[in-house]
Amino acid sequence: MGNPILEELVLKLRDPGTNMRDFREYLERIGFLMGYEISAELEQVEKRVTTVLKEEAAHMTYKESPIVIGVLRAGLPFALGISKAYSDSEIGFIAAERDELTLKPKMGYLGIPEIMGKEVILADTMIATGGSVLACLDILESHHPKRIIVAGVIGSAQGVRRITSERPDCIIHCAAIDAKLNNKGYILPGLGDAGDRAYGAKKNG
Ligand code: PRP
Ligand code: URA
Repeated sequence: MGNPILEELVLKLRDPGTNMRDFREYLERIGFLMGYEISAELEQVEKRVTTVLKEEAAHMTYKESPIVIGVLRAGLPFALGISKAYSDSEIGFIAAERDELTLKPKMGYLGIPEIMGKEVILADTMIATGGSVLACLDILESHHPKRIIVAGVIGSAQGVRRITSERPDCIIHCAAIDAKLNNKGYILPGLGDAGDRAYGAKKNG
C-alpha cells in the first residue's frame, strides 16, 4: 500500500484538468516525499548536538547529502523536490530526448558536479521503455559514482523490468507503476507527456 499523500499527488498529476503551474508544483512535492523515502537507503551516521540546555542529543542521520541529477525536461521540478529533502544536495542536469519514431533517447546537455565516490539520485519523471534511464546510467557511471539510485514518478512495469534486468543491482523507486505502454511508447494509464504538461508543447518536436 502506498502513502496516501503521495497517492493523492499522483492522482492530481494524472488529472488532465491540472494546469502547468500546479503540475510542476505537484512534481516538486512528490520529489520531496520520495527524497524522504529514499533517505532510508543512504549510509547513516550518528550526529550529536548540544542543546541550549547544555544537554547532548544524538540522532542517526544520513552521512552525506546525495547528489540529485534531473533528466530534462520533465525531471527538473522532480529533482528540485528531491533535493529539498536534504540539507545540502548538489544538483546536476542531463538531457535526454526520446525520438518519437524509434523511441530511443538522444542524449544532450550534461551539467553535473563531481560525482566520483558519491551517492547519486537520478530523477526521471517518466520511466516508459527505460531507454532514457539506461542511457543516463551509462553516462553517469563513466564518472564513477559510489551508487546511483533511480527515482521515477510513474514507471511502466516493462521499463522497470528492463532496467533491473540490465542493471540487477540498481535500486529503483517509483511513486506508481503502470501496467501498459501504447505503441507510441506512452505509459497507460500514465499522465500524457510529462514535459509538455509541465512546460507546454515543444514547437521543435
Ligand atoms: C520523457 C520522460 C523521460 C522519457 C521516458 O522525456 O521525461 O525522460 O520520456 O521515456 P523512456 O523510458 O521510453 O526513455 P521526453 O523525451 O518526452 O522529453 P521531455 O521531458 O523534454 O518532454
Ligand atoms: N514520456 C512521457 O512524458 N510520458 C509517457 O507516457 C512516456 C514517456
